[in-house]
Amino acid sequence: MKVFGVDIGGSGIKGAPVDLERGDLEEPRYKVLTPHPATPEGVTEGVAHVVEHFSWSGPVGITFPGVVTGSVIRTAANVDAAWVGTDAGRLIGDRLGIPVNILNDADAAGVAEMTFGAGQGRKGVVLLLTFGTGIGSAFFVDGRLVPNTELGHLELNGHEAEKHASSKVKDDHDMSWHHWAQRVEKYLKHVEMLFSPELFIIGGGVSRKADRFLPLIKGIRAEMTPAQLENNAGIVGAAMAAGGR
Ligand code: BGC
Repeated sequence: MKVFGVDIGGSGIKGAPVDLERGDLEEPRYKVLTPHPATPEGVTEGVAHVVEHFSWSGPVGITFPGVVTGSVIRTAANVDAAWVGTDAGRLIGDRLGIPVNILNDADAAGVAEMTFGAGQGRKGVVLLLTFGTGIGSAFFVDGRLVPNTELGHLELNGHEAEKHASSKVKDDHDMSWHHWAQRVEKYLKHVEMLFSPELFIIGGGVSRKADRFLPLIKGIRAEMTPAQLENNAGIVGAAMAAGGR
């Protein structure tokens, strides 16, 4: 079965048709820049642009970088505050003329990794953390998702963790891998103290460069592994959710 997946991120809106049996993109993904400010109307146009690029008319799954209950957006840390309270399913579905399914971006990435990537067959507590514009989290117990955990907003050194240890912070401050890895280590220790996961899956665009920073992180009891679907995990997970997987 083929379903279209869209990943709304702080810098780009990307999408592609996904083959749900293989858990992979059917065609190279297409990306437009996220408008700034990232208002509901502007982002909806961006999503429509991506979907229409493929002349797609089947089911569509979409990730959102905030808490989503049903299809209503509840938080918007890295996009325009006007999203809060918006029924994104209705807004985007009406624009596309197709019913759509919306879920949190890290949850989508986590579902894809648990089925097709680094978390396959893993039991117990597994935590996927995405390092990007913010820090996203997906929490699994015996393979089942506990949705909308927001572990990027834990407090660390008197700051929200994602304002201290996201990969955007690394880029904005031109930090060395070593300096940034120390912050990530501190964050992982804090999360480990609270939840004792068996496995951390490290996702987000920066997971492509995991060999540059994961070996620098010491003293974590849990196994740590980079995400395998890299930047496509959100698109695949969004499509899975819309395809009922
Ligand atoms: C949001 C999360 C999101 C994460 C990654 C955070 O700021 O609150 O919902 O998963 O960024 O985009």
